[in-house]
Amino acid sequence: MTSLPAERPRAWAPPLDTAPAPASPAAQALAARYGEAASPPEIQWNDVIERLLAHRSVRAYRPDALPAGAIETMVAAAQSAASSSNLQLWSVVAVQDPERRARLAELAGGQKHIVQAPLILVWVADLARAHAIADHADRPVEGLGFLESFLVASIDAALAAQNAAVAAESLGLGTVYIGALRNKPLEVAKVVGLPPHAFAVFGLVVGWPDPAAPPAQVKPRLPQAAVLHHEQYRLEPQVEAATQYDDTARAFQRGQGLEPTGWIASVLARSRSAASLNGRDRLREALETLGFPLR
Ligand SMILES: Cc1cc2nc3c(=O)[nH]c(=O)nc-3n(C[C@H](O)[C@H](O)[C@H](O)COP(=O)(O)O)c2cc1C
Repeated sequence: MTSLPAERPRAWAPPLDTAPAPASPAAQALAARYGEAASPPEIQWNDVIERLLAHRSVRAYRPDALPAGAIETMVAAAQSAASSSNLQLWSVVAVQDPERRARLAELAGGQKHIVQAPLILVWVADLARAHAIADHADRPVEGLGFLESFLVASIDAALAAQNAAVAAESLGLGTVYIGALRNKPLEVAKVVGLPPHAFAVFGLVVGWPDPAAPPAQVKPRLPQAAVLHHEQYRLEPQVEAATQYDDTARAFQRGQGLEPTGWIASVLARSRSAASLNGRDRLREALETLGFPLR
């Protein structure tokens, strides 16, 4: 008589009707952006939103050239951003020359990604073009001397740059903004040859992420309770939301093998003193020298 083979033990699986549904791409993206606990329950979802929610700054690059037409693609995206009164008070300087990039890296406190990546885009709040047009037409420019015009130009530059960053990311490229160019605004203006009435608001490094480096991860943000107000701004939930976020930030830092200092510490450190602005406490003087009286 032959015996039947013993039934092999089966891996346990929950009955089909109680198995948790796999997390949707939207739920996964939200968990990465906010941490599981603070994720909003529901959002709309499409390729553009997926791309936006997957943003992360990249700080390790291969030196390889960008694809053909990448700069022009980013600039077309940038020029498609809204512009206050369509005045288009911004410009961008594409810096690829290695020596010039090295100089910008030095001015930005030695940020190595500026040297590694093949391109840094320097985004300019540009009142020089309006000055030149008015000069040519022999018309007055009093309005350009006001803080409002500087702010409009800076906002235009920022909106344009962000469109360029999204376009770059959609091509598989990495980016990181370089606000540290404002540490040395006069020197940066010289390096990229800015005329009077033009100011480098920030840079944007663009390149291929280095596959040998640990991939950049999505960095969680404040819970929406902190930034989203309905009808009227409310300050009361802010401290609690920030405290909750501080735990999320610590968990993220631990996961990255970083010191878990949290987020509140960086707000406090940046807020503490003039010195904590890394030279940007003298920005008003620098702007006056560059031809922005900021009246
Ligand atoms: C205007 C601006 C300036 C920035 N300047 C720098 C910089 O000088 N160096 C740097 O490594 N990252 C810089 N960043 C990147 C921020 O540190 C980064 O966006 C932030 O930590 C959130 O991380 P994420 O972009 O990966 O989500 C800057 C970002 C912005 C928007």
